[in-house]
Amino acid sequence: MQIFLLIILLSFIVLNEFKSTKHVHKGLIDDFKLEDYPYVMCLKILLPNKRVETCTGSLVAELFVLTAAHCVYGKDKKDLKVYQGTRIKSHDSRNVVKMYVHESYNHTSEVMIGDLSILKIEKPFSHIEEYIRVGGSPIDFANNKYLKCIVIGFGIINAEHERFIKQIMVKHGRKACEGYDSVQIIDTWQQYLCEIPNNHKTYEGDSGGPMICNNLQYGVCSFSININGGDMQTVYVFIDYYRKWVNDIIEPEQSTSISAKQKRLKKNKINQKNDAKLIIPHYTLYIISGILWYTM
Ligand SMILES: *[C@@H]1O[C@H](CO)[C@@H](O)[C@H](O)[C@H]1NC(C)=O
Repeated sequence: MQIFLLIILLSFIVLNEFKSTKHVHKGLIDDFKLEDYPYVMCLKILLPNKRVETCTGSLVAELFVLTAAHCVYGKDKKDLKVYQGTRIKSHDSRNVVKMYVHESYNHTSEVMIGDLSILKIEKPFSHIEEYIRVGGSPIDFANNKYLKCIVIGFGIINAEHERFIKQIMVKHGRKACEGYDSVQIIDTWQQYLCEIPNNHKTYEGDSGGPMICNNLQYGVCSFSININGGDMQTVYVFIDYYRKWVNDIIEPEQSTSISAKQKRLKKNKINQKNDAKLIIPHYTLYIISGILWYTM
């Protein structure tokens, strides 16, 4: 009986090892698929008048979704729902059990700072095996260097239009943004990344969405300012500026959980073979430790 259980268990592990080598960044330009970005979240916000607002977010750890403060400020966490991917395709949602809004965010101020929020969801999306790590540093933009990045947002999705990813050129610096002398950003430019304006527009639901450069999340879509001629400058929170705040929230909780530790060990092992960010689904570990206990 015990041997039988062990055989079942072993085949279960083997199957899962194979399954978890799926999500690898291909780095293809013309082949963006939602499946390649499993950590992109769609946030649904129920308003008092029963209308629904949409924002974008990203899973930066098993239970934590990074988004913009202005999406959730003043809202009750029970009016928030987190979906994987687009709401059109996905019905798998999570409730929010804790909401963190950066303390420097001021919704009445013209100067937009601290526009970051982290939502803790009630339970993991167990089929998601890859999160996005936050990263980036001002050094990456030294000497007026710009980076080629992608931004993902659900603001531009409707029934027939599903282009939710675009490529942009990103700058950082005192004069990196168009309209750098406007009151919103002139004294706080260190905190932003700006995309070189192009003919794409940013829509409301893009708020909170990730800017990804070098396979790390550098920015969060925050706001746009009007520049002369009716053009818009889209401005992103440079996460590096708030890195400590983000890490202080998402790291302690991870390291207190035994299953997260086990997962990290497992993950490191896999990482030696394969550069992709992989995480073993949590239920596998519970079942494994449960059965081992039982048989010993
Ligand atoms: C928020 O901004 C408004 C307008 O600039 C200012 O009057 C208010 O004191 C600010 N609130 C805080 C808590 O800093």
